[in-house]
Amino acid sequence: MHIRLRALAALRQTDPEHKLRETRALAGHMARTPWTDETLRRAGDDAGVPGRPARPERVSATAVPHRSPFTPDGRAALIHSICHIEFNAINLALDAVWRFDGMPQAYYLDWLRVADEEAQHFALLHAHLQDMGHAYGDFPGHDGLWTMCEKTADDVLARMALVPRTLEARGLDATPQIQAKLRRVNTPDAAEATRILDIILRDEVGHVAIGNHWYRWLCDRAGIDAEAAYPELVERYQAPRLRPPFNLEARQRAGFSAAELRSLGGPPASTC
Ligand SMILES: [Fe+2]
Ligand SMILES: [Fe+2]
Repeated sequence: MHIRLRALAALRQTDPEHKLRETRALAGHMARTPWTDETLRRAGDDAGVPGRPARPERVSATAVPHRSPFTPDGRAALIHSICHIEFNAINLALDAVWRFDGMPQAYYLDWLRVADEEAQHFALLHAHLQDMGHAYGDFPGHDGLWTMCEKTADDVLARMALVPRTLEARGLDATPQIQAKLRRVNTPDAAEATRILDIILRDEVGHVAIGNHWYRWLCDRAGIDAEAAYPELVERYQAPRLRPPFNLEARQRAGFSAAELRSLGGPPASTC
């Protein structure tokens, strides 16, 4: 079976543990099977996409209750919400592999690597959540990440613009703020969560960089100006507006241009 169809099977998988196992096995399949360029999409093949369990209950972003990280339940809800983002992120990476025909092999390899790292992020957070006496599904979650995947299902250029380099890039901004709160909490579980978030932040810079790379590649192929096209895509697909504070240093490492960083209030100070 073509690796992209294996990615579809993992994407349809509803059980988180099975999804994790199938996603993490993809890189091994890739190494054993010679790559072929094929048109794989068929009418109706998005049935069952994305596979997800009955719980967590899905609610709108505004309906997710705000809880203080200074209580154990509040911290469990916080870890659960990030776990849920990672679950969606596995699906979005698998979807990027399966959905879009006609991209270079390097594009699919990049997104298979992202899927594998998202599976690791989910596993780290879920183990930590279980240590805190909870499990994935115990709290409600919202699906902002997947909603943008649906909106950009027919346009890989818009997908790259608005999912990795917009929504995942917001994670680069949010993570240090969450870590600062957890440091103030100063409990062993908060310290462990901060350590896991260090790993996630390191990897997410790479995911946003992959989004930036393929967004620019697609813009070059289409003969359009990547920086001029971006605000038009935000408008057309009603993507969330970016809000400060921005992690300009991480955004710079993720490949945003000097002009893009300036538009956010950057460039960052030199770290030399
Ligand atoms: Fe992640
Ligand atoms: Fe990611």
